[in-house]
Amino acid sequence: MPEKLVTAHVDVFRHDPAGGGAPRYQRFTLELPPHTPVLTALLRIRAEQDPSLTLRYSCRSAICGSCAMQINSKSRLACQTPIGPEIAEHGRIVIEPMRNQAGVRDLVVDQTPFWEAYDRMRPHLITDPLRPMPEGRETSMTPAQVEQFRETPRCISCAACYSACPAVEADAAFPGPMALAKLYRFVVDPRDQARQDRLLRIQTEGLWLCLRCHLCTEACPKDVRPSERIRDLKEMAIAAQGGTERGSRHAIGFKQNIRERGQLNEMKLVLQTDGILGSIGQAGQGFKIWRKKPEISKRPRRIEGIEEVEEIYKELDPKPKGDR
Ligand code: SF4
Ligand code: SF4
Ligand code: FES
Repeated sequence: MPEKLVTAHVDVFRHDPAGGGAPRYQRFTLELPPHTPVLTALLRIRAEQDPSLTLRYSCRSAICGSCAMQINSKSRLACQTPIGPEIAEHGRIVIEPMRNQAGVRDLVVDQTPFWEAYDRMRPHLITDPLRPMPEGRETSMTPAQVEQFRETPRCISCAACYSACPAVEADAAFPGPMALAKLYRFVVDPRDQARQDRLLRIQTEGLWLCLRCHLCTEACPKDVRPSERIRDLKEMAIAAQGGTERGSRHAIGFKQNIRERGQLNEMKLVLQTDGILGSIGQAGQGFKIWRKKPEISKRPRRIEGIEEVEEIYKELDPKPKGDR
């Protein structure tokens, strides 16, 4: 029996900055089985309807990480996303290039910032040249030590997380979720001799810009869970250096605040984060907020059931993950 086909209306973002002309969406319509990957649909379009359609791909098996793009506004691998569910949910398939990276042509983006951030993490073992490993000595790891890498070795560098990340969009200094997941992998590697230096440097190189929205983890096709590893890095950074950075002071203050009263004391948090002098610099902004929300100047009461909050803290306060 012939396979049932669905009608796919595919609206593809088209733009050739070098050739001039405004960006536009071009509709292609084709009949395909519902399990057809979006990448296959795009390659059919290129073969049968428009050979100028430009996209990046290689393995067609969710291995090389080349084909990430926006599919109905979500960062996905085109070779791993079947058309059927997209059509069922949205009625059409809108294909756009990844976000947070400048367009080169159609669906191809310039990944230079993504790879530069990766390089800044020094994603390789760093050993002390003055203390080389003795000749012939093994640098093997125990299974428990390998376990510390968590899911990070699964990363295929597809940049879907980078495309989904609002912190990357807001601040070019933020290295992005994939780069930080790579950093985590080397921070917990017992053979690496730059752990402390890595944890100190990353605090001023964007670690605290992460908003903890978890959109990167949602977007990741390999379940690398970058946002969880960034959380671990923050815990390890505080353990390594205490609250010496603004971001770490904010995190420590936030945690103390909730522990004491079960709700945030916003005035106190500003003081804990920025100190007296820094807070004076924010007085104008604070006054504007106070006019709209005067209750922020009152000391919040301890909430009912604060003992339960204390129990949660006791439960969730283990040794920082990956601590060695
Ligand atoms: S959790 Fe952090 S790294 Fe992940 S998407 Fe949100 S801001 Fe970006
Ligand atoms: S962490 Fe996930 S989404 Fe990000 S580059 Fe690696 S595989 Fe892709
Ligand atoms: S083509 Fe390689 S991951 Fe999609």
